[in-house]
Amino acid sequence: MALPTVLAFMLLVSRISAWGNLGHETIGYFLAPNALAFVQTTLGSQYNFSLGPAATWADQVKSEPEFKWSANLHFVDAEDSPMTGECSVEEQRDCGDQQCILAAIANYTVRVTDQTLNAEQIQEALKFIDHFLGDIGQPLHVEAVAEGGNEISAICLNKTTNLHAVHTGMVTQNIDLSHGGTPETYAADLVQQIKNGSFLALTEDWLSCSSITEPVFNKRAPGAQLEHEIARLLHARQDDTITPLECPLVWARESNAFDCTVVFDFTSGEDLCVGAYFDSAVPVIDLQLAKQGFRLAAWLNVIFDGATSLP
Ligand SMILES: *[C@@H]1O[C@H](CO)[C@@H](O)[C@H](O)[C@H]1NC(C)=O
Ligand SMILES: *[C@@H]1O[C@H](CO)[C@@H](O)[C@H](O)[C@H]1NC(C)=O
Ligand SMILES: *[C@@H]1O[C@H](CO)[C@@H](O)[C@H](O)[C@H]1NC(C)=O
Ligand SMILES: *[C@@H]1O[C@H](CO)[C@@H](O)[C@H](O)[C@H]1NC(C)=O
Repeated sequence: MALPTVLAFMLLVSRISAWGNLGHETIGYFLAPNALAFVQTTLGSQYNFSLGPAATWADQVKSEPEFKWSANLHFVDAEDSPMTGECSVEEQRDCGDQQCILAAIANYTVRVTDQTLNAEQIQEALKFIDHFLGDIGQPLHVEAVAEGGNEISAICLNKTTNLHAVHTGMVTQNIDLSHGGTPETYAADLVQQIKNGSFLALTEDWLSCSSITEPVFNKRAPGAQLEHEIARLLHARQDDTITPLECPLVWARESNAFDCTVVFDFTSGEDLCVGAYFDSAVPVIDLQLAKQGFRLAAWLNVIFDGATSLP
């Protein structure tokens, strides 16, 4: 495997939500030259020229009156039935009104390169892409049940909270127990696993946009579909007819599948941030964060450098 062209890093801690900001900081490294230059110029010193600090913006503003409309774009309410073992995400059923993360990713992909927009709007588009490519990897952001777990009572380190918040708590706990206690060291560990560790063998699949159940002969070259879809989208540029792309839908289905395995598999009263639940969640958290960080880089590389430019 060729080494990544550029390793751009990301840090900073502020508020917690979704996977928690700690999680978002570990996302987005392997940027190609034009993508990196665009990111640095667009984000500027306000975000330390990097995607990590900027990834938290979308969570910070969604409760403000001016950005209330964006709150629904952080997730897709998959109307499936994980409690009975049926997981699925359907574009029409779950995102028919286009007010969901799937359509938002397409929309902001068009907008981030729209020359008619001003600098603030373009920065906003980049910050949304940054954030949403992370969120879509979080199983509870791809699930309608109990408002994505927000309404399910659960315990983390002896504190009663909700299931959604537990998943944030587990990221922090994972970093504290196994990754040196800082988002920087966690990010470095995940990058190392991608470059030369347990994730190395998986990266081709991460970019293939085919489901794991797809027959091998149907699979395209890694990145090919992603490049094709983004090129077509940017060529069409019809803001009023933005429809979700196939790759994010495949990624959403991947996350959603975990809702049928580990996410809801606990008994009430159990402390989810220690013990069996935590142990089965950690590999999923590591995988999803690493994967979505890699995909975010691929996404921006395709937009600005014309190809995934990744191994
Ligand atoms: C800004 O990024 C650089 C590396 O790109 C890092 O060394 C520095 O600590 C960061 N500063 C802050 C405030 O995060
Ligand atoms: C695309 O984003 C813009 C700016 O945030 C928003 O006003 C518009 O409604 C979005 N369009 C779609 C189809 O989501
Ligand atoms: C939770 O409470 C139990 C019983 O009070 C205690 O033994 C344990 O150390 C606590 N765990 C944490 C993580 O605080
Ligand atoms: C990858 O890891 C193996 C050991 O796991 C080591 O022998 C090898 O030198 C590493 N390669 C690179 C390029 O870091």
